Amino acid sequence: ALFVTRLPAKKHVNKKIQKDCPKVVHSMDIEDLGTKTAFCRCWKSSKFPYCDGSHNEHNNETGDNVGPLIVKRKDA
Ligand code: FES
Repeated sequence: ALFVTRLPAKKHVNKKIQKDCPKVVHSMDIEDLGTKTAFCRCWKSSKFPYCDGSHNEHNNETGDNVGPLIVKRKDA
């Protein structure tokens, strides 16, 4: 943890989510998920851990190719 926190902030994948805590972790019950939920993997969403589409701007600016993890029910 010390090594990570000593790296310059520009090397951080996470630029803004809960920067005051040592590790960002979210937990939720499967039963509470809707029929389809998109989770952010770019760390830029204002609704983190949910995707809000911010990955599109990131991809356009950088040429990156990141996108969400979509969890959906088979019977939905
Ligand atoms: Fe981060 Fe969509 S906003 S993956």
